[in-house]
Amino acid sequence: MTSGFVIAVDGPAASGKGTIAKRLGEAFGLPVLDTGLLYRAAGVLVERAGLDADDPMVASRAARAVTAEGLDDPMLRTRSAGEAASRVAVHPVVRSILLDFQRAFAAQPEGGVLDGRDIGTVIAPDAPAKLYVTASPEVRAERRWKQLTAQGEPVSLEDVLADIRKRDARDGGRESAPMRAAEDAVLLDTSQMTIEHAFDVARRIVEAARARWESSQ
Ligand code: C5P
Repeated sequence: MTSGFVIAVDGPAASGKGTIAKRLGEAFGLPVLDTGLLYRAAGVLVERAGLDADDPMVASRAARAVTAEGLDDPMLRTRSAGEAASRVAVHPVVRSILLDFQRAFAAQPEGGVLDGRDIGTVIAPDAPAKLYVTASPEVRAERRWKQLTAQGEPVSLEDVLADIRKRDARDGGRESAPMRAAEDAVLLDTSQMTIEHAFDVARRIVEAARARWESSQ
C-alpha cells in the first residue's frame, strides 16, 4: 500500500517519460526513481562479466548485486545498457528481486515519482496519479538518437529505430509484467509535442489527480 502521493509514469523507451517524471518531481517536491536504471544496472553487471543476459540464474545474481549507489554510473545510459536491461527484465525472478526496492521507494511517507514500464500496473497499482506516456517509434528513435549522439555514442538513426522496435516487442511481449498502460492511467501521446508542452499537460493531469487525492484524505 502506498500512503504518500505517488505518481506512476509508464511508457516505452524514449517516449519522454523520464524527463516528464524528473520535472514532475521538481514541480511537486517529490523524490524521483527512474526504475529503468535498476534493470540497466543488472544488465551492465552481466555484460561486464561477459555472461549471458538470457540466462535467468546469471541475471538474477546480477539483480541481487544492484545497489542504489551504483545507479549514477554514466555507463547505464548507453545503448548497450538499454539492450542488456530489456534482456534481463524478461526473467520473472529478476523482476521479483527488484520489486522490493521499488515498492519501498513508493511507500516513503512523502510519496514519490516512479517511471518505468509496470509502475501503474504492478509496483504501485494504487498510485493516485498515473500517466502512460507514448510517442510513435519514429519520433522516439529520433529523440534517442539525438541523446546518444550528444553523449558521443556514434550510431545511425536507422539502427536506433531498429533497437526501439525490438525493445517494444520484447517489453510488450514478455510473459511477466508486459509493458501496457494501467486501465486507470491517463494516456499522453507526445509525438506532436515539445517537451515543454508535454510537461505542461502532464502537470495539469497530476494537479487534478492531487486535488482528488487530497479531498479523499
Ligand atoms: O526505461 P529504460 O529504457 O531505461 O528501461 C530499460 C529496460 O528496462 C526496458 O526496455 C525494460 O525492458 C526494462 N524495464 C522494465 N520495467 C521497468 C523499467 C524498465 O522492464 N519498470
